[in-house]
Amino acid sequence: MEIDLNLIGMEKGRQYETVITTENCDNTYNAAPIGVICSAPDKIVSRIFKGSHTLDNIIRQREFYVNITHDAEIFMTSTLGNLPQDSFGEDGILKSAEAYFKCEVISLKEAVKQSDPIKSKDEAIVIISKVVELVIIKNTNAFNRGFGYVVETLANFTRFDMAGEEQKKEYVDLFREAYRVTRKVGTVNDKKAMDAIKKELENKGFKP
Ligand SMILES: Cc1cc2nc3c(=O)[nH]c(=O)nc-3n(C[C@H](O)[C@H](O)[C@H](O)COP(=O)(O)O)c2cc1C
Repeated sequence: MEIDLNLIGMEKGRQYETVITTENCDNTYNAAPIGVICSAPDKIVSRIFKGSHTLDNIIRQREFYVNITHDAEIFMTSTLGNLPQDSFGEDGILKSAEAYFKCEVISLKEAVKQSDPIKSKDEAIVIISKVVELVIIKNTNAFNRGFGYVVETLANFTRFDMAGEEQKKEYVDLFREAYRVTRKVGTVNDKKAMDAIKKELENKGFKP
């Protein structure tokens, strides 16, 4: 199949939440949710914190699979623990993947920018990879967090006038985090929507 990440809804410069699968030293498979930025139709960039199995496996093998799934259980289980081995098919691809692509590492570099709100710099490695195979099992778009935040923020906004003072402050705090993430990963339309909500909150006398 033609290698073009646009075919699974990935636009240049945008970040998508995927599940990366790799092979462990003992030949079992590992899965972890990882954000990947599409930097070209056949290139991605990811930033993975040191100490994860995923990073160790990628450094050792210099190849991995990126799985596109919208299955909350896969995201939850692979974040909080380990996916059972029967979740993996041939080559460690997720059986429930809607699409997947194989990546080969082009370069590994210490992270220099400090955009993560929790971790500090030098604790992560930036990985640039080439996509060498793309398989679409069913029509799908890779998941971007921006739109979810816009919908969630709008839902909160419709409750804003009914909320007490304390709850209003909580909504403003939620807005700030949603705004931060949307600026980082959202589409142009997601950002426009969040700017419009920001203005409305300002009109109500808040400083979001
Ligand atoms: C939606 C989502 C996106 C994530 N993105 C990243 C990421 O880009 N880089 C990273 O190091 N960890 C990321 N994580 C955290 C890892 O998935 C998590 O630390 C995981 O437990 C690592 O598992 P492993 O040790 O099996 O590799 C993300 C988690 C979630 C839920």
